[in-house]
Amino acid sequence: MLDRGASVAAGGGEDGGAGEGCALSVRGLVYEVGGQRLLDVPSLELVGCETVVIMGPNGAGKSLFLRLLHGLIAPDRGEIRYRGFRGGGDRPRQAMVFQKPVLLRRSVAANVDYALKVQGVGRGVRRRRVQELLQMGGLLAQARQPARTLSGGEAQRLALVRALAGEPEILFLDEPTASLDPGAAVALEALIAEAAAAGTRVVLVTHDLGLAHRLGGEVVFLHHGRVAEQAPVEQFFSAPRTEAARSFLARNLVL
Ligand SMILES: Nc1ncnc2c1ncn2[C@@H]1O[C@H](COP(=O)(O)OP(=O)(O)OP(=O)(O)O)[C@@H](O)[C@H]1O
Ligand SMILES: [Mg+2]
Repeated sequence: MLDRGASVAAGGGEDGGAGEGCALSVRGLVYEVGGQRLLDVPSLELVGCETVVIMGPNGAGKSLFLRLLHGLIAPDRGEIRYRGFRGGGDRPRQAMVFQKPVLLRRSVAANVDYALKVQGVGRGVRRRRVQELLQMGGLLAQARQPARTLSGGEAQRLALVRALAGEPEILFLDEPTASLDPGAAVALEALIAEAAAAGTRVVLVTHDLGLAHRLGGEVVFLHHGRVAEQAPVEQFFSAPRTEAARSFLARNLVL
């Protein structure tokens, strides 16, 4: 099991920490390109520790939002806090898996080993952890294979276990099961569910309604760069409040 200790809270000081649980909060967030407002999220509070599923039509701003939440890009205005932290030195451990995984030009095992090495994990422990993580991802047989020769589904599993190597407290996933066959998608979903059960807060973008339903505690529905709806997953599917969400669900359900 992954161990998510109280280390972050302990290091919190006045900038967040104890008492913040897993709260992810967004205030006054604006992201613009060339004068065009691509994201505008005045306020979003995601309390509790459950999985968050971000949904919405193509171009709604989901990937941008995930990149902003992870800190890969900076907003023009506003702030994002996780457990009360604004980011920077004491930022909680976090990881992101992209829709098209970026793998290092080396073996499958070396990709995982490198992720552990950069965290300062010693060689002896690394050897054991690499095996554990590869086993978790069903990739032991591919350990010595060049990572870039993996199939799409295998590459996604490697990217996910490599992200999990850092024992992230929060994990951002951008359409992790897109373009996977049903078997590979089930395997990936099991890994995500396992990470969530072990205490990682998962924030996931997906168009897969089944996956959202099974994993999601809370849904954030984006439309034209704004949060059109935020609701517990059951409520979102059974009684969407906005016309945008209703038509999104209706279109998806008939496909
Ligand atoms: N650097 C940029 N310059 C201009 N427009 C951008 C830039 N980055 C993103 N966009 C636009 O912002 C909008 C949101 O993009 P984003 O990738 O977040 O959509 P998405 O919700 O993830 O869609 P999809 O479901 O297709 O992945 C899109 O219309 C996109 O074209
Ligand atoms: Mg996207």
